This record gives sequence, structure tokens and C-alpha cells, in this order.
Amino acid sequence: MHPTLRLAAAVSLASLCSLSAHAADSKGSVEVVHWWTSGGEKAAVDVLKAQVEKDGFIWKDGAVAGGGGATAMTVLKSRAVAGNPPGVAQIKGPDIQEWAATGLLDDEVLKDVAKQEQWDGLLDKKVADTVKYEGNYVAVPVNIHRINWLWINPDVFKKAGIAKAPTTLDEFYAAADKLKAAGFIPLAHGGQPWQDSTVFESVVLAVMGVDGYKKALVDLDEDALTGPGMVKSLTELKRVATYMDPDGKGQDWNLEAAKVINGKAGMQIMGDWAKSEWTLARKTAGTDYQCVAFPGTQNAFLYNIDSLVVFKQKDAGTAAGQQDIARKVLGQDFQKVFSINKGSIPVRNDMLADMGKYGFDSCAQTAAKDFLADAKSGGLQPSMAHNMATTLAVQGAFFDVVTNYINDPKADPADAAKKLYAAVKSAK
Ligand code: GAL
Repeated sequence: MHPTLRLAAAVSLASLCSLSAHAADSKGSVEVVHWWTSGGEKAAVDVLKAQVEKDGFIWKDGAVAGGGGATAMTVLKSRAVAGNPPGVAQIKGPDIQEWAATGLLDDEVLKDVAKQEQWDGLLDKKVADTVKYEGNYVAVPVNIHRINWLWINPDVFKKAGIAKAPTTLDEFYAAADKLKAAGFIPLAHGGQPWQDSTVFESVVLAVMGVDGYKKALVDLDEDALTGPGMVKSLTELKRVATYMDPDGKGQDWNLEAAKVINGKAGMQIMGDWAKSEWTLARKTAGTDYQCVAFPGTQNAFLYNIDSLVVFKQKDAGTAAGQQDIARKVLGQDFQKVFSINKGSIPVRNDMLADMGKYGFDSCAQTAAKDFLADAKSGGLQPSMAHNMATTLAVQGAFFDVVTNYINDPKADPADAAKKLYAAVKSAK
């Protein structure tokens, strides 16, 4: 069954049931479902909560733990089926369209805010299209994350005798060997499927280049998914995996980030929400830690846009709260403080073009510069591992094959490539 129909079937009952009424006070209350639960992420989302509460609304926190959001999505689906969706929820990429097609998202409530605040002029068309359904905004974009980063503890590098950050896969392996020899964990990594695929897509980008990445992970082209580029990517992935933290199985990403911060590990391959943990630990970019593009991906930017969708609600008081959240989210003040805490960059074009003015650090300034340059060159590509390139169903097919491949000592890369294509085809 097509994923849109699958989701539609699952939630069609919901429209028959009455949507639950929320207790409203004078200004109204809104429940917000999200998965920003690490220390650094919580600090970031608390910024929004405080701003909304200052405006007199009650913020009901619907945080669901679990990096990458898979658990949050399961909770959301069962709430929708039960006819009780929250007022606002974190949903991303093509899934926004799927949810909108079920009729459960509100395409009216943001109309006036978007017009008054001139969202069309503030946002890149690619960003705006992601959060619109049939021309109307059904979500507000929050921030932009880059996936293909390598986080480095320079102190650990020094102790291991490594002179500089790796810029190629070979330099990466050489640095990892030195870290291992010096008794450090070379690569902090939590063996959860979304983290495995975060590494996988960075390796695919390094090996196959931007065009190859696009053909394989965005266009889902058979030749690209099964051809020599993918076989080589999977071979390199297996080699990268030999440096991963042996205690990392099932581990949360932020606990692995802590190992780099505390000097137990040398590197982590992770999107720039990793920076939220460094910031929380009061570390400074460029001196206490280094952020560099994953080796071999300097001219590319795998993007991941967080957004908050609005669900239809019965309680009229919720609309005012939903609008307040949306207005705050795209305001300059929130865009600055949230992204500084979260490790991301703003979605507003005016801010991206002038990052120094807002006090962003060197990592964020590099990200913004690369985002704008790669948008022109075509190096800007949606992340598969973070729901931007495909639907959740196709993403799930990738996750299964990649994680099994990493964990199977006898796995053959050519065979895994064939399995990838078969799994993706049946999930489409
Ligand atoms: C991503 C999300 C980020 C961050 C990360 C770890 O998918 O876009 O905002 O939360 O997961 O949970």
C-alpha cells in the first residue's frame, strides 16, 4: 500500500471521533510533541516554552525521548488514531505532506501569521515548500541542521599525536588508528539504527559524491543503489565501523557525545545538534572542540529542517496558542537563541546571510556559508537518515538493511547493496 494511503487508513477513524478538548484558561493552552530531550536540546526548546508562557499561554510539554524521533512518531500516530492529536508536533520533510493528506493538519490557522510576518519572503523556496500543503502553510520551520559533520576533541588528537583534522577517508582511518593505539575510543557512536544511517549517508556522500548520493538516496535509482559506488560505500562503512565505540550498542547519541567531550573518545560523526551538548558543557567551538565536514564531503551539505506542524483542534483557545508559537518561532530573537543552544542555523534568509551580526560561533558561520554556497552549486541535499529525502517507510527500509549490515560480521557489501534496493522498492 502506498505510504500516504497507509497513514490515511490508520488515521481515517480519527476524523470520525471528536478531537479532544483541551482545558483552556484565558489565553489557551497548547500541547507540543517533540523529541528534544538531551540536556542541550532541552535547553533549546525551553527558550520557546518561556517565550510562549510569557505571552500568557500554557505550554503542555509532550516530550518523547528517543533521538531521531522514531518513538515520537509512533506516539503521534497512535494519538492521531485515537482522535487526540496534540496542537503542535515536530514532524519533518515529506512526512508533512503525508500527514496533511490525511486531513488532520490545520491549513487555516497559520494563514494570517504567515501573511503578516511575510514568511514567503523570509524563507528559501525549498524550505517553504517542505512546510506547505497545497499552497498553505501547515507547519512552521524551526531551524536547519547539517548532518555531515565530524566532531573532534583536539586535546585527544594532540595526545594521540595527530597533527590535523582528517580531510579524506584515508586520513580519517590514519587518525583513528593513532587514537586506538593511544588507548582512546576512536569513534564515539551509539549503535541505534538512525545513528548507523547517519554515518552511512555521510560515507555514501564521501564515496559517491553529491550526484551519486542524490541518485541513490533521494531518487532511489536502482543502478545507483546496487552499483559499484554503493558497494564501495558499504565497504568503507564496514571499515569506519571497526573504529566505533565497542560499548556503544543501543547507546543514546548524547551519551556518546559526552565521551568526546570528556576526552575518552576522539571523534563523533553526527549532525550539529551534537554541538548542543558541547555548548551545555560550556565548551567553545574552534578551541575546545573542532567541527569539520565529514572527510570527503567538504562541498556538500546534507540538510535536516526541524519543523512544527499544527493539528486541527476543537478547542478554539488552541488556535491562538498555535499562532503564538508560529510567530515566535520565526522571530529573529528565537531564531538566534534557539539555534545557538541547539547547534543549528536559522531558517531565515536574512539571518543566514549575516551570521556574525547575531553572535553565532565559527561552526554555525561555516554551516551558513556552506548552506548558501551549496544551495547554488547543487551540493545541498536532503538527509535520508533524518526524514528529509524519503517517507518514513522508505527510511525504515534503509535503516534495517544498514544496521543489519554493520552488525553482521559475515555481511557482503554487494549482497547488502542488492538487499537495500529490494527493501526500498517494497517500501515505496
Ligand atoms: C534529528 C532532529 C534534531 C535532533 C536529532 C537527535 O532528527 O532533527 O533536531 O533532535 O534528531 O534527536
